[in-house]
Amino acid sequence: MPTTASVTKLQAGSGMNAGSATMKAIAVIPGQPNTMHVRDIGRPTLDQIPGGRGVLVKVLRVGVDGTDKEINAAEYGAAPPGFDYLITGHESFGRVVEVGPSVSELAVGDYVVATVRRPGSSIYDQIGTYDMTTDDLYYERGINLRHGYLSEYYLDDPEYIVKVPPGLKDVAVLLEPTTVVEKGIAQAYEIQRRLRVWRPRKAAVMGAGTIGLLAALVLRLRGLEVTVFGRTAAPYLNSDLIEELGARYESTVTSPILGESCRRHGPFDVIFEATGASSVVFESMRALAKNGVLVLSSVTGGDKTIQVPADRINLEFVLGNKVMVGTVNANREYFELGVKDMAHAESQYPGWLQRLLTHPVKGLENWKLLLDTLTTAKGAIKVYCEVAEDR
Ligand code: BGC
Ligand code: ZN
Repeated sequence: MPTTASVTKLQAGSGMNAGSATMKAIAVIPGQPNTMHVRDIGRPTLDQIPGGRGVLVKVLRVGVDGTDKEINAAEYGAAPPGFDYLITGHESFGRVVEVGPSVSELAVGDYVVATVRRPGSSIYDQIGTYDMTTDDLYYERGINLRHGYLSEYYLDDPEYIVKVPPGLKDVAVLLEPTTVVEKGIAQAYEIQRRLRVWRPRKAAVMGAGTIGLLAALVLRLRGLEVTVFGRTAAPYLNSDLIEELGARYESTVTSPILGESCRRHGPFDVIFEATGASSVVFESMRALAKNGVLVLSSVTGGDKTIQVPADRINLEFVLGNKVMVGTVNANREYFELGVKDMAHAESQYPGWLQRLLTHPVKGLENWKLLLDTLTTAKGAIKVYCEVAEDR
C-alpha cells in the first residue's frame, strides 16, 4: 500500500486538468430559476489545499432543506468566483478517504460532517466565530460563493471537518440542522448569565418542522418543560415525536399561541422561534416570561408587513427585562456540541433521531426526485440524498 505521502504526490500529479478523474455533482445556475442538474466535474485532489492539510471526503449522505429550494428558485445563493454554477448541498455526512501529510486530527475511515460557513475578514471570522461575521459578504458551502457537498467527494481543511463517532453514523446527516439549534440555545444561555441565578423551567418552540423538532429535543435534554406550537392538527408523526420526548404539542388551529395554552403552560423562560413566519415573532414576544429570552432563527426572505400592539409589546419587554436574539449558521464549536447532544439523545431517546429521516432518495442522478420530494412530499421531516453506500 502506498504511504499517505506518496498518495498525496500521485493525486497532486493528476490535478484538476483535462484528463483527470471526474465525479458527479448536483448544481444550479444561480440567478436562473429551476436550473438544477447533474454534471461531471473534476474530482478534487489533496494538493488543492496548501501545506499538506487537505482532507478528501467521500460523501455518503446529504440532507436538503428550504434553503436548497430557494437556491433552485434563484431567490438565494451565488456561484463561487470564476464559476457560473454552484454545487448545492450543505448538510453533509461522509467518510475520510485521503489525508495530506500534515493532517493529524483526522484519519482515513473517520466519519465526518463539514461546517458550512467559511471565514471572511471581520475580527469574528479571525477567531473562528465565522458564524458571527459582520462582513456583508459571507461564504457558505453549498449556499453562497462556495461549492457544496452534493457530489461524490469534497475536499477541505480539517479545521472545517468534524469527526462523528461510528455510533452516530445512521443519523449524522442531521448534525448540520442540529447545529443551528445548538447555537441558538447556547447563545440564549450565554446571554442569560446576565441574570446570575437564571433557572429556566418552561420553554416553547414555535414550529414543529425539522428545526422545531430538534429544538424541542435539545431543550428537553437540558431538562426543560417544553411546549411546541405547530399549525398541523395532532396527531401526526411530528406531534407523536414531540410527545415521545415528554414534551407537549399544541396545534395553533385549536389553541392559538396567546390563548388558553399560554396561560396554562406559559409564560415561557425560553422561546425558540422556527416557523419561518415573521408574524409569529411578535406573538412570541408576548408569550415570553419576565427575564425571558427569545431566539429567532427563521430566515424570512419576503417583505410581509403586519400591525402589532407596539406599545404593549414594548412595555412588557421594558418592565420584564426581556431579551430577543437573532441567530444564523454555526461554527465548529456548535458542531462539536451537536455531536455530544446527538449521542446524549441516542441514549435518552433511542431511535428518535432516526425517525426524522423520513425521505431518502438514492443516487445523485435522482436529483429530480430529490427536488420533487423536497417540494411536494407530505409529512416529510428530513429529505436526503443517499449519495453512496458506506463500504
Ligand atoms: C443553513 C445555515 C445557513 C442559512 C443561511 C440554512 O439553511 O442551514 O447554515 O447559515 O441557511 O444561509
Ligand atoms: Zn440548512
